[in-house]
Amino acid sequence: MTVRSPIVLDSDPGIDDAVALQYLLGTGLWDLKAYTSVGGNLPAAQTYLNARALARAMRIDADVPVHRGAGRPLTRLPYRVADDFHGPAGLGHETLPDSTAAHPAESSAQALLRLSREYEGELTVCATGPLTNVAIALLEDPAFVRRVRRFVFMGGAARVPGNITPVAEFNMWADPDAAELVLSSGIPFTMVDLDASHGWLFGPADLAVLEAAGPGTALAARLLRVYMDAYRRGGGDGTCPLHDPLAVGVCADESYVTLTEGAVVVESAAELTRGQTVFIPSAAGRIYYPESPALTARARLTGRVALGPGSRDFTQDFVAALQRWPGTDA
Ligand code: RIB
Ligand code: CA
Repeated sequence: MTVRSPIVLDSDPGIDDAVALQYLLGTGLWDLKAYTSVGGNLPAAQTYLNARALARAMRIDADVPVHRGAGRPLTRLPYRVADDFHGPAGLGHETLPDSTAAHPAESSAQALLRLSREYEGELTVCATGPLTNVAIALLEDPAFVRRVRRFVFMGGAARVPGNITPVAEFNMWADPDAAELVLSSGIPFTMVDLDASHGWLFGPADLAVLEAAGPGTALAARLLRVYMDAYRRGGGDGTCPLHDPLAVGVCADESYVTLTEGAVVVESAAELTRGQTVFIPSAAGRIYYPESPALTARARLTGRVALGPGSRDFTQDFVAALQRWPGTDA
């Protein structure tokens, strides 16, 4: 009998966020205490509606509360709409019915704080969108740093190019102030970045498995086909990276990636390099860059950064876990 560990999934659904939820449920490893939405791929109002609809489609909305995230990034700029990759409303061409569950009074950040107290030392927080909610939780109560058992997020680009600008990954770019605040807060973190997620691709053969696997994987297959097409339009080879599902996978098994300890400092002020994640490996020893007082002051050696894929085949496990989800004709 698997003892399921408490987790909160903080997401900006978004196609890969959506299938990350089904993957999380399919692993059978997690007791999902809340599904907290955040703005990012779409404005917060839309990602909240998408999260509610996905909770219903995954048949968890009666038991798992869905919370609404902050309306804007810490930088006060609006979230950029990524409908070019995720579709006009963020879930491909789907128009999923809303959940009938009541709307919780708590915001996403408030739910994160409450659950970090209720499950002190046990709670995993997995973030697959901008870090706005986590930053707000930290601003509200810095002791959040010590109460969370594990914090894993999808974001950043340690040694590879960005995907929203030449140097920045989307989640970090969408709210760089939040990212900087979180990564310099002292919270131990695991960064599942593009260096790793581009090592686990989902392709036509994987899609064929899901399309043949019956109604439980039909929604995921439709969503992933849209995502693959978006990457193909961008010059890709017909595959798509499994960014957000990989972050969920790393929460349970770090052998999906290759981790290196160090610090990550996020550029939040400069226009050209907004959202760039500057990785300083611990092997560099103490953090001392006299030419850059900001880098010296902000870098905290509390991170473990994925510099590539690991030995265990994530794509294979992802496809298998989706098929284990007890779905219907979603
Ligand atoms: O850069 C990839 C990240 O940006 C993923 O979380 C995807 O959902 C988008 O939000
Ligand atoms: Ca996301």
